[in-house]
Amino acid sequence: MKIRKAVILAGGSGTRLRPLTLATNKHLLPLYDRPVIYHAIEKLVDAGISRIMVVTSPEHIDSFVRALGSGEHWKLKSGNESQIQITYGIQNKPGGIAQGLYIARDYVGNEPCILYLGDNYIEDNLGPHLKNFKSGAMIFLKKVADPERFGVATLGKNGGVIRIEEKPKKPKSNLAVIGLYFYDNTVFEKMRDQKPSSRGEYEITYVNNKYLKEGALKAVVLKKKWTDIGTFDSLVETSHHVRKSAKKRR
Ligand code: DAU
Repeated sequence: MKIRKAVILAGGSGTRLRPLTLATNKHLLPLYDRPVIYHAIEKLVDAGISRIMVVTSPEHIDSFVRALGSGEHWKLKSGNESQIQITYGIQNKPGGIAQGLYIARDYVGNEPCILYLGDNYIEDNLGPHLKNFKSGAMIFLKKVADPERFGVATLGKNGGVIRIEEKPKKPKSNLAVIGLYFYDNTVFEKMRDQKPSSRGEYEITYVNNKYLKEGALKAVVLKKKWTDIGTFDSLVETSHHVRKSAKKRR
């Protein structure tokens, strides 16, 4: 079944970006001329996704509604002229990425879906990967210099994933699992027995490892720029990068 729906997570506490995030949410901070979350929405819309649920905290939901509305700022490039549809989910406390996705279970229903972490800036085109996705899960990897900050995937000799570890102290590879995941309609079942991790979160790595055990996990190494807006440096550096492409756009 073709993926029609995406869930963008835009909750969390943004503690690493304080005091910038004391009065607002990380995903509403500017990347040069637009809020961080606009990039996630555009990436999905460019790949043909027109149904998006944004999950965020009760404190910031009204700011998101003002910034994104019902989706009236975006139209699919191909097809009819109607706007995309944005709806909202509320995560009372930042209890983990899997918990954030679980909030969208009724919205997603019995369909496959995309999970997009709203603080990720992804330059690769997602369209071809969406076409290749048939069932199971697809995760996306990127070589990084500081893998201990991320979910880390180890690949076997045939290029398949053999292990994923969340923020390992001694990473076995330099391939970070980025905040973009394609899931079939068994994703919510896989969370049924899940318990919070030692840091008290429902980890998405647990869900990915369930797919891995079933032999249903594919991984794609992305080629173009990727960052997550988790530090002051990545916020500034990505802003400069966006500024260059914005100049070309205008
Ligand atoms: O950016 C990729 C990394 O994202 C992955 O490599 C890791 O496997 C994954 O766990 C995650 O790690 P982070 O430490 O970067 O997650 P962070 O807490 O910064 O949250 C990532 C995004 O998800 C951010 O946009 C906020 C949102 N979020 C997070 C949590 C924990 C929520 O909406 N709700 C939550 O409860």
